[in-house]
Amino acid sequence: MDSILVRGGRPLSGRIAIAGSKNACLTLMPAALLTDEPLTLTNAPRLADIRTMAVLLESLGCEVASLQDGRVLVVGTEHISNHRADYDIVRKMRASILVLGPMLARDGAAVVSLPGGCAIGARPVDLHLEALAALGAELDLRDGYVHARAPRGLHGARFTFPLVSVGATENALMAATLARGTTVLENAACEPEIADLVRCLRRMGARIEGEGTGTLVIEGVDRLHGTTHPVIPDRIELGTYMLAPAIAGGSVELTGGSRALVAAFTEKLEATGVTVEDTEDGLRVTRPEGRLRPVDVVTAPHPGFPTDLQAQMMALLTLADGTSQLEERIFENRFMHAPELMRMGARIEVHGGTATVTGVEELRGAPVMATDLRASVSLILAGLAAKGETRVARVYHLDRGYERLEAKLSSCGAAIERMTRDGGAPGQAPAEQVEGQ
Ligand code: EPZ
Repeated sequence: MDSILVRGGRPLSGRIAIAGSKNACLTLMPAALLTDEPLTLTNAPRLADIRTMAVLLESLGCEVASLQDGRVLVVGTEHISNHRADYDIVRKMRASILVLGPMLARDGAAVVSLPGGCAIGARPVDLHLEALAALGAELDLRDGYVHARAPRGLHGARFTFPLVSVGATENALMAATLARGTTVLENAACEPEIADLVRCLRRMGARIEGEGTGTLVIEGVDRLHGTTHPVIPDRIELGTYMLAPAIAGGSVELTGGSRALVAAFTEKLEATGVTVEDTEDGLRVTRPEGRLRPVDVVTAPHPGFPTDLQAQMMALLTLADGTSQLEERIFENRFMHAPELMRMGARIEVHGGTATVTGVEELRGAPVMATDLRASVSLILAGLAAKGETRVARVYHLDRGYERLEAKLSSCGAAIERMTRDGGAPGQAPAEQVEGQ
């Protein structure tokens, strides 16, 4: 099992290119099931989760070609031979549930394993199922699978989400594109990844209005066609790497991303005293002299502060000159990075959904354990600032969402390298250790 070794205390300088969005790509790939013509995705990220989604689609009979060193994916769905998404794939990645809506809309049948929980929470899929039932799906939950049918096809409906759900919005949106009549989805998620999905579906011939607002209106059509679509930049990768110079010192330009993708996060980052400048190719982040100011953070659906950047922001705030409160309102168990940061000398008190961080002058390197994708990168960030060596174990979590992380950071002067237990070449994640997220 690989680990990453970071020797802290080196200010960063240079440029980091931001890749395509993992979470956009994980909904764009199953959207290909809505047509029997190829869907080509450019600017695709090269990540373990993307490979897992490709394996799932291929298990259904799709062909997924990876071109230009993985940057371009061509998803061919002419011969869907199987409508069953097996547990052994779904358990590795919760986003697998996103094949349910498209398969139902395309062929009126789908059997998809329930994803089960993961490290950050129970993460039920009840809202996905309620929305699809409103569109006319007949759903039967048994032996850990959703057995879904729509013998007379799906029909338009007005559905209000009881709480904002990115995945449930994506599943319902994709299914509604081929439903008979008009669908209105209210209290829908407004994440940029959903706007990107809407743009792609429109290119495929779908008729959708309202992206970026809480209400999506979809006029069902008889069929969709293939297209080529560029995946939007990954705003969570962008925010993560903005925090690298912020915590380690120095100045780094992040290319390929824009302030608009990370507005709420950037506002909080600038409130600590870090400077963020718009450049021709993206954003430049510079750490000022001296300690940063503490800030309070509350995670919320877009356009609020992204839950996927909470762990990384906490790493920064462990070194602020004062006390910060971080409130996690999206997931019930997303502070697992806190005990690991405390091993490095951070002072954090967690009570329910709130973490109180009292800034310290210095973190000290230590062996720490990654528990989930975003927690693992927060430990890497802390290691960049810590005195001494930090070894982050179980970095297969990292590989799910961060492409070539060591190369990107070491190109800016970080002392960071990937190790294996026997010192050999880095290997793949042990299958039994990878759980869904
Ligand atoms: C997406 O997960 C992202 N994953 C997550 O990113 C992200 O943290 C999350 O949205 C919130 O922004 C992908 O896009 C692949 P939700 P998703 O449905 O769709 C509850 C990362 O690190 N809920 O918006 O699963 C749920 O438990 C990952 O890249 C229900 O109760 O998130 C949570 O508390 C982690 N019932 C809240 O809603 C449901 O049917 C928001 O979840 C669905 C969700």
